Amino acid sequence: MMIDADLTDYPASWFRIAFSADIAVGDVKIVHFFERDFMICRFGLSELAVINPYNSQMERHLGHRWKIVNNQLCYLNKVVNKDGLTCYPLQEVYGIVFIYFDMENPLIPRFSLPDLTILDSTIWPNRSRFRKTIATTVFDIHENAVDRAHFGILHPPAFSNRQAYFISQIKLTELSDKLLLHSHINVAIGPIKLRYDVNANYAGAGIGIVVVEGGLFSHSIVVLTTPITRKRVDIEYIFQTKKFPFPLLNRLLHAGIKYTVATEIDKDVSIWEAKRFVEQPILSDFDGPIAKFRKFFSKFYPKKTIGDLRDTAPCIASHEIP
Ligand SMILES: [Fe+2]
Repeated sequence: MMIDADLTDYPASWFRIAFSADIAVGDVKIVHFFERDFMICRFGLSELAVINPYNSQMERHLGHRWKIVNNQLCYLNKVVNKDGLTCYPLQEVYGIVFIYFDMENPLIPRFSLPDLTILDSTIWPNRSRFRKTIATTVFDIHENAVDRAHFGILHPPAFSNRQAYFISQIKLTELSDKLLLHSHINVAIGPIKLRYDVNANYAGAGIGIVVVEGGLFSHSIVVLTTPITRKRVDIEYIFQTKKFPFPLLNRLLHAGIKYTVATEIDKDVSIWEAKRFVEQPILSDFDGPIAKFRKFFSKFYPKKTIGDLRDTAPCIASHEIP
């Protein structure tokens, strides 16, 4: 499994950096991701700019000295010529501000923002969000989906050890800059047998959309991952369920499923934070398509550099017994 990219570095992708509701007209906000600051300026309801505040016009920025006056950007009460500032490619959809971040080619996105109409769908009217900061990489978070073997070990009672063997093989279909994942899980509760179809899609390394349908409760999760540093990720889960017939039942079931999902994610966090990247892991037939998943993700990452300190040894070393 030789990958010629550095999966511990910053990938080139669309990333969530803010929510629209947090930036009123006239606001200037500094957010910190990728070990740098981004300045978000709201000139009008649909007029937004994300700017690199460290620019040729000034050696360093002071966040609170920036203002928008009469729809013009000012620094220390002087109007700044916007032409001299670097603006990141941005999209503001469904109340979320995304930028395209690319260390190598920052101004022209290699692919467009994926379809997020699931966030405005009448099929999924119950919505809630939860957020975490995790000491890991965006790659490790998304690779969880194809780590087929871990479901049975880490996620009971949602997936008991016995039921783990009923998780079907995970199929991946690659479409240009998008990866589609298909699988299903059979769950047996006594004589009742339930099937859950799992469909996910990944567009770049910043956005994953997971839909679990069937059985008793369908739900979807939009996973938005943005690196803060190379080993720290700000992750937002937008969790949605279908409408249940009675309002009280609707609220209770949404809260119950959300609690279960959040609890299972917490179990993953303890693994992600202790994980180390092994380039050539030893895999069994029961593992998911790890190599194919890594190959897809690698296209968004910079090439490896000489002196790369990653661990390339397999996780279990073989040796001869004397
Ligand atoms: Fe997991």
